[in-house]
Amino acid sequence: MNLSQHNTLRLPARADRVIQVDSIQALTEITAALGQAPRCILGAGSNVVLHAPLAATVLLARLMGRQITEDGRLTAGAGEDWHGLVMWSLGQGFAGLENLALIPGTTGAAPVQNIGAYGVELSDRVTAVTAWDFQDKKLVRFSAGDCGFSYRHSIFRDPAIQGPWDQPRYLITEIELQLRPMANAQVEINYADLKSAFAHQAQPPSAQEVADAVIAIRRRKLPDPNDIGNVGSFFKNPMVSQLQARNLSLLHPDLPQYPVDASHHDQCKISAAWLIERCGFKGARRGDVGVHDGHALVLVNHGGGTGREILALAHEIQQAVVAKFGIFLEPEPIFLPHH
Ligand code: EPU
Repeated sequence: MNLSQHNTLRLPARADRVIQVDSIQALTEITAALGQAPRCILGAGSNVVLHAPLAATVLLARLMGRQITEDGRLTAGAGEDWHGLVMWSLGQGFAGLENLALIPGTTGAAPVQNIGAYGVELSDRVTAVTAWDFQDKKLVRFSAGDCGFSYRHSIFRDPAIQGPWDQPRYLITEIELQLRPMANAQVEINYADLKSAFAHQAQPPSAQEVADAVIAIRRRKLPDPNDIGNVGSFFKNPMVSQLQARNLSLLHPDLPQYPVDASHHDQCKISAAWLIERCGFKGARRGDVGVHDGHALVLVNHGGGTGREILALAHEIQQAVVAKFGIFLEPEPIFLPHH
């Protein structure tokens, strides 16, 4: 079975078999039927690079459902579309997810890489994640603290916990978030792009206005995977020591730098997009794959590209950035298969 419709880079990798998982009952049956046979989990495939055939049964996590209590406790099934959930929560009168509008993918994939944008990370809102444990054959509930969240990371993408790519231990079934009734919510608009969007406005914007601004910024800067295959940022913004950041800014005064978070004040994030652009890759093309001409951190498939070509381009970029700046760019999406 060809997976090109199941990954947003539209890569034509094949899998042995694809099964939709839409209930806990189905999970119990699939676990028994598969035994130790290789399996692999996909949501919408918006953060994976399929670079070779997957010798495995692909499980599409499609558990649905969403509800919110009066005090803003939101529960959502893994298969719910993330952006749909964000807009629904705002429509129900709750704030908290507006900065995370228009991120492609499913709700169950959101905790895996701790999605984040415009000053908010999923981990700021998550209270619990429920997952099916293929090893103990039961549901396990993880508190937010158990999930080991950090920048674009969680235990769900840690091979030491999740196991090898074709034998993942946990399939996320549901997540729980704590939101706030809009009337007493404070919006987060410190990210430069948002600050300038509301610079002319005396009153703080509503959560809905922040969502609208985020959507407009993303539409302006990032390619829509429905128009051109991509997985958003292809590399993480590298973290360097404050000393290295100071040395870099002496050489390159316009290199954008950001604080990491309160627990990492000795470190600082620098802009991977800037590094890549300075190496001359913005808008570059290698056959049918390339670097987006509007944002240097996004690799794109112009149509007939393959996973191998994407990896070759990523490698070329990494080598150029190391040669020019001495910094290694760590890929952000998950490579499947992964050995
Ligand atoms: N920049 C360049 N060249 C470019 C694009 C950007 O030099 O081609 C510079 C700009 O000066 C800009 C800075 O890089 O000030 C930052 O750009 P941007 O605001 O677009 O954010 P980013 O750091 O490149 C990160 C996330 C995005 C997220 C945005 C907004 C990572 C790996 N990426 O990108 O997340 O939407 O911030 O919060 O942290 C994703 O993870 O897939 C993703 C799109």
